[in-house]
Amino acid sequence: MSIALYPGSFDPLTVGHLDIIERAARLYDTVVVAVLHNPSKQGAFPVEKRLEFIERACAHIPGVRVEQFYGLLVDYARQVGASVIIRGLRAVSDFEYEFQMAQMNGQLCPGVETLFMMTKPEHAYISSSGVREIATFGGDVSAFLPPCILKDVQAALAAKRRESDGR
Ligand code: PNS
Repeated sequence: MSIALYPGSFDPLTVGHLDIIERAARLYDTVVVAVLHNPSKQGAFPVEKRLEFIERACAHIPGVRVEQFYGLLVDYARQVGASVIIRGLRAVSDFEYEFQMAQMNGQLCPGVETLFMMTKPEHAYISSSGVREIATFGGDVSAFLPPCILKDVQAALAAKRRESDGR
């Protein structure tokens, strides 16, 4: 059985991430979508919420598992029996970081390959950080998020802003 690991922060999941998951699920029996649980770095959404968003958005895709991991990615890849780490590439600007990460992971664990999937052109400019910023200030993020999580993401970020504004 072929298992691919698709790791990330997913803070929150975007339509770009979802497209990569859908395409990876056509290539591998199982795609483990793994959210990095980094206790020293608090994201905009708690990890549990991010997992829930991914689960909801991926409910229609057979073979997808949604999990969290802590520590080294290659250790987690070994743990789940993945032969491949999937990463999406949007633009040249992603390349340097991704290239370095792939090389280092390859050195740590030669048995696990990194596979890059190009994002669709219409998703190339979408980022979770951009979504967070736009939604925090009430902008329209409907083109960037899976419809089933849109309202919850918007509401959570708007509530966060009210809290920080002391309203
Ligand atoms: O969505 P992101 O933030 O680009 O994902 C980055 C992620 C989670 C894939 C990366 O930070 C990671 O793998 N972290 C786990 C720690 C690790 O293995 N670091 C060594 C990679 S060089």
